[in-house]
Amino acid sequence: MVAITDRRILADGKDTPIFVFGSRAESIPQALSLGWRGFDTAQEYGNEQAIGQAIRDTPAYKDGSITRPEIYVTSKLAGQSFRPQENLVESIKESVDKIGLEYIDLFIIHKPYGTPEGRKTQWLALVEAKKQGLVKSIGVSSFGPKHLEEIRNYSDEFPVVNQVEITCFNQEPALQAYCKKNNIAIQTYSPLARNEKSEDPTLNEVAKAVGRTWNQVMLRWSIQTGLYPVCASRRSQSNIENSQVFDFELSEDQMEKLNSLESGFRVCPENPLDQDDQPPYHWDGVKVTLL
Ligand SMILES: NC(=O)c1ccc[n+]([C@@H]2O[C@H](COP(=O)([O-])OP(=O)(O)OC[C@H]3O[C@@H](n4cnc5c(N)ncnc54)[C@H](OP(=O)(O)O)[C@@H]3O)[C@@H](O)[C@H]2O)c1
Repeated sequence: MVAITDRRILADGKDTPIFVFGSRAESIPQALSLGWRGFDTAQEYGNEQAIGQAIRDTPAYKDGSITRPEIYVTSKLAGQSFRPQENLVESIKESVDKIGLEYIDLFIIHKPYGTPEGRKTQWLALVEAKKQGLVKSIGVSSFGPKHLEEIRNYSDEFPVVNQVEITCFNQEPALQAYCKKNNIAIQTYSPLARNEKSEDPTLNEVAKAVGRTWNQVMLRWSIQTGLYPVCASRRSQSNIENSQVFDFELSEDQMEKLNSLESGFRVCPENPLDQDDQPPYHWDGVKVTLL
């Protein structure tokens, strides 16, 4: 049985929390008190500053009872279609400054959409940011094996984390096998399928059998599958519930029942794992308009 504060060693030798709190700055004081030490943000969310500030303002951080090495912040390089892909290392430095915690523990490419050339430019910027000490570990999000294999053509550095939408309703077995073989840890975003499966009879049957809620069962499924969920609520009771997934276990039989729920159901409508398309954009210097 593991605990919310447990960590795992990544392929680059750095360690990462096994359960990350999602991008909700207002709930960070509660999350820290419940034991979360990993926090997620992104350039595209526009809340890097708020996330960093919320951590720094928490009394336990201020008085030194929680120290910087215990905290783990992930941020993400904005997608190729989000804004022009220039001065990327500079933009990573801006992210570090906005968060205000000296460095970023894990920096990932937010999505693979765009061209292979664009992904190469992004990856090499992450490699450079790591070399400069701006970030400790580098990875990707929603990259399929095809996108990951491209990286071997131009870099000796390989992603140590892939943040992907995986639940018992969408298990991506080929990607899971690829990541396992290549020692890439999988963080799972939208691990509760944004509540869209809360009424599922099998999920609720398992929840009833273990005396837990459907969302605790979904999170526990992730953890027992060897995945690292990224999850948050703005409601305090939900955060308490979500944090309490280390004091029960799903049996083999129950895991099998949940595995049988595979249906390719995703909350993000199109599967980015194989995609290259990049919507054309207009950048007016402040914001992007998709054309
Ligand atoms: N890499 C990427 O491209 C990517 C994409 C999406 C998300 N993410 C990251 O992953 C995190 C989580 O993903 P997500 O927000 O899309 O999906 P999610 O975790 O599957 O679902 C979040 C939704 O579930 C609700 N919720 C949370 N705990 C609950 C509980 N115990 N009972 C009932 N409802 C509960 C929340 O609503 P309330 O707040 O109203 O409770 C929220 O609307 C995000 O915060 C973000 O950091 C990354």
